[in-house]
Amino acid sequence: MVNDAVWDIGYLVAAALFILGIKQLSSPRTAPQGNRMGAMGMFLAVLVTLARMYSEGIVGWELIVGGLAIGILIGALMATRVEMTGMPELVALFNGFGGGASALVALSEVLGRLQEGDVPEAGVELYAIWVAIGLSGLVGWITLTGSLVAMMKLKGGFVVPLSKKWVRFPTWGPPWLNAVKILLLAGSLYLIWMTINDPTNTDYIWGIVGLSSLLGILFVMPIGGADMPVVVSLLNSLSGIAAAFTGFVIGNNVLIIAGSMVGAAGLILTFIMCKAMNRTLPDVLFKAFGGSGEKDQLTRTKVGSDPEEVAMVLDGAQKVIVIPGYGMAVSQSQHAVKEFADMMESEGCEIAYAIHPVAGRMPGHMNVLLAEANVPYEQLIEMEDINSEFPDCDVALVIGANDTTNPAARTGEGPLAGMPILDVDKARVVVIIKRSLSVGYAGVDNDLFYMDKTMMLFGDGKKMMNELNSALKDL
Ligand code: TAP
Repeated sequence: MVNDAVWDIGYLVAAALFILGIKQLSSPRTAPQGNRMGAMGMFLAVLVTLARMYSEGIVGWELIVGGLAIGILIGALMATRVEMTGMPELVALFNGFGGGASALVALSEVLGRLQEGDVPEAGVELYAIWVAIGLSGLVGWITLTGSLVAMMKLKGGFVVPLSKKWVRFPTWGPPWLNAVKILLLAGSLYLIWMTINDPTNTDYIWGIVGLSSLLGILFVMPIGGADMPVVVSLLNSLSGIAAAFTGFVIGNNVLIIAGSMVGAAGLILTFIMCKAMNRTLPDVLFKAFGGSGEKDQLTRTKVGSDPEEVAMVLDGAQKVIVIPGYGMAVSQSQHAVKEFADMMESEGCEIAYAIHPVAGRMPGHMNVLLAEANVPYEQLIEMEDINSEFPDCDVALVIGANDTTNPAARTGEGPLAGMPILDVDKARVVVIIKRSLSVGYAGVDNDLFYMDKTMMLFGDGKKMMNELNSALKDL
């Protein structure tokens, strides 16, 4: 039998790697290294846990090797096959798995204890363990079912098994639903209380599983439109909180540390995103502010320009601001954008990139793509800092961005109401590259497309950027 101190030292090193990793994630320059450190910490934590289980005779090496092989294979396949644009769905799914795993561990702990008759006497120990088990289950099941709904909403729907029919996932939230959610939460807490009063009655435990799973579904159903990133981030935080409770239940220090860090980091990100979108968390959760998911019917038209015309406007420009959005990610046009910037800079033009906090489909989406194309970090300027520069800008080049530039957000109505936007409409000339006049993620028509100073370049982002670059070279 190995001394417990060995395992604790292993967990301590893993926890130190998590903390250093998170610290390094705070700058794009050190973020890849931070990511590797976090992954190493997690790998170490898994190894120490498995070694401990083996040494204590809980599992044999066949299960350990088999479990590791299956986990590594699934993880590697998912991570390498996912499109950059599908990352939010994958993150939502991982959050759900995290919550589900915590809930299952808590469930197996309580059922195992009941089977072995290992129920603490009424007193502090019973309170502490049974409350931790109850809360771990409550938060874990909410995270699992809520994340699955979030994933399907981000995907737009799901395929019905066997019939292969595609069903669009609805955004549904009548006003009375909030009362139902509060009742479900109160009911779950009451059942946790009952498990303490009558610890051997498993009906209460299954009741918690049922109520909290339903609560997770109803919690995410009404949220839509631009509010989805906030809810995914909140679910991420909940998955960490569930893991921390589970750490208390099974007495695992690294789970408590890692869970608390995920819980805290997710909560900080949730508040940063709420601030970026000018929402409060209760608004996001209870007002179904994100819109119905219905798209505006477009009736207006706009004549498109061609790359040669745009190249002539750009000729002699002193300052150009590039506004990247989701369409740049879809078309993978970041390298063509960098080539454009290099060409303009060689003609003495100042280039900056305006980064909206929720551009794309995940936090930092644009930063990651532009870093991949070797765009210098100092040219990536956050919304609050760049907005004052638009009036002095000769050309604002919007590539695949829509909601994040939509002046409708200033009107105080509709799904985008109140979200701060990039003040692209204040530039002297606006050039927008996208395939059509269609709406963005939040489903709201964009007045920017129809302004006199706006030139639309209709087409795939990469194709149009390449054509624009060729036209610039031909000048
Ligand atoms: P969006 O408003 O989503 O608009 C993207 C535009 O890209 C679309 O209107 C689309 O127009 C165009 N596009 C798509 N494929 C293209 C291609 N191959 N080439 C060129 N254009 C293409 O983008 P945004 O301004 O980045 O705003 C992001 C939105 O997503 C916000 O509402 C945000 O709340 C939400 N959201 C963000 C996150 C995070 S954390 N960033 C997560 C989930 C949701 P066409 O179809 O006409 O080409």
